[in-house]
Amino acid sequence: MGATAFPLEAIETASRDELQALQLQRLKWSLRHAYDNVAYYREAFDAVGAHPDDLHTLADLSKFPFTTKKSLRDNYPYGMFAIPREQIVRIHASSGTTGKPTVVGYSQNDIDTWANCVARSIRAAGAKPGDICHVSYGYGLFTGGLGAHYGAERLGLTVVPFGGGQTERQVQLIQDFKPDIIMVTPSYMLAIADEMERQGIDPSATSLRIGIFGAEPWTPEMRSAIEKRLALSAVDIYGLSEVMGPGVASECAESKDGPTVWEDHFYPEIIDPDTGEVLPDGEFGELVFTSLSKEALPIIRYRTRDLTRLLAANPANAGRTMRRMQKITGRSDDMMIVRGVNVFPTQIEELILKQAALSPHYQCVLTREGPLDALTVRVEMKAGAEPAQADAARQTLMHDIKAYIGTSAEVVILPVGGIERSVGKAKRVLDQRNK
Ligand code: DLL
Repeated sequence: MGATAFPLEAIETASRDELQALQLQRLKWSLRHAYDNVAYYREAFDAVGAHPDDLHTLADLSKFPFTTKKSLRDNYPYGMFAIPREQIVRIHASSGTTGKPTVVGYSQNDIDTWANCVARSIRAAGAKPGDICHVSYGYGLFTGGLGAHYGAERLGLTVVPFGGGQTERQVQLIQDFKPDIIMVTPSYMLAIADEMERQGIDPSATSLRIGIFGAEPWTPEMRSAIEKRLALSAVDIYGLSEVMGPGVASECAESKDGPTVWEDHFYPEIIDPDTGEVLPDGEFGELVFTSLSKEALPIIRYRTRDLTRLLAANPANAGRTMRRMQKITGRSDDMMIVRGVNVFPTQIEELILKQAALSPHYQCVLTREGPLDALTVRVEMKAGAEPAQADAARQTLMHDIKAYIGTSAEVVILPVGGIERSVGKAKRVLDQRNK
């Protein structure tokens, strides 16, 4: 990168030994902090006979129990906090489609760490001093908006705190304010691009240079489609509220080969989701995180339900030494089992994007046909496509799903606008099996 780029922090290029020494020191602190200050952790550790003093190496972490969303729900709202409530400066909560939301809290130091991690993420995406950053992640209890906002501000950028929704106005302000960077879910980026076209604006001719997309799975094919349509560089930002929010890991502009995990604050493991056994780097499984520096809500071995694998650092990423994770292909929650075959919405997305007559606005509907589950893919045709082209694309898509995924699916083509637009995370799976 040129002289105008932001410099890296020293820890980003530290040797693996140096990084691991820091991780071990912080991990000891984090386990002790959780054990001493959160009744839930004390009981959970005691129940398996794991004491913070028993941790001598990073690998010893596997002796400690997992934490799940249920642990947070059972201790709703403040039971997992490790500092007095008066020292909590911010609360966020998950949208939680069913039951109680999961509540997370931050100390002032936690907010600082979070802002630094997001600033690091935006820098890794290729931001330059003086850039304007348009934030379209939702502000409020969702961590996306405020998380992105504090990070962009920390980096010293000019922030436009738009939030989600009001798509017409988003387009107007992108035209008028000329942002260099946009932070938004990839599905909402598409909705904004559609709105640009509706207004007669060429999405590839805006001021946007970088898109920092996350909060939902999106495929490499979706990346290419967005990069081409909007003529920008698209990187993947990952995070979850229980661990912090956006900026737990983020992709580097140099290689765009999976988010680099900010390992000095979040220790990653991959486990076999069935047995809980820790798997070596490179193997596919469920991602688990332990916070290394969080004060308000230390989180020990949190099972994300996200499926991926850990990869070695790519030196092409400006010499960064922290490990990467492969772009998330799906959550175990979103996995559909159709006639015995495991199917993720991202697999369908990949095939849809091969069809020039189809748009990547889609939804997978699960219904029950007798004892079997049936999958219907609802997908919009592209504006301007002929009905005959859409029908041919439908036939090909049905064929491809059978050929590449190994299960049958019905494909229904909808007119432009036929799939409900979400202003945040897209809902890809509609489960109608119990109706
Ligand atoms: O979605 C935090 C976030 C905001 C991340 C903005 C990135 C950008 P939650 O609402 O708690 O937090 O949802 C977390 O979203 O476990 C993943 O399943 C999914 N997710 C987040 N980022 C990605 C990504 C925010 N880049 C859940 N790729 C996580 C795939 C993602 N899935």
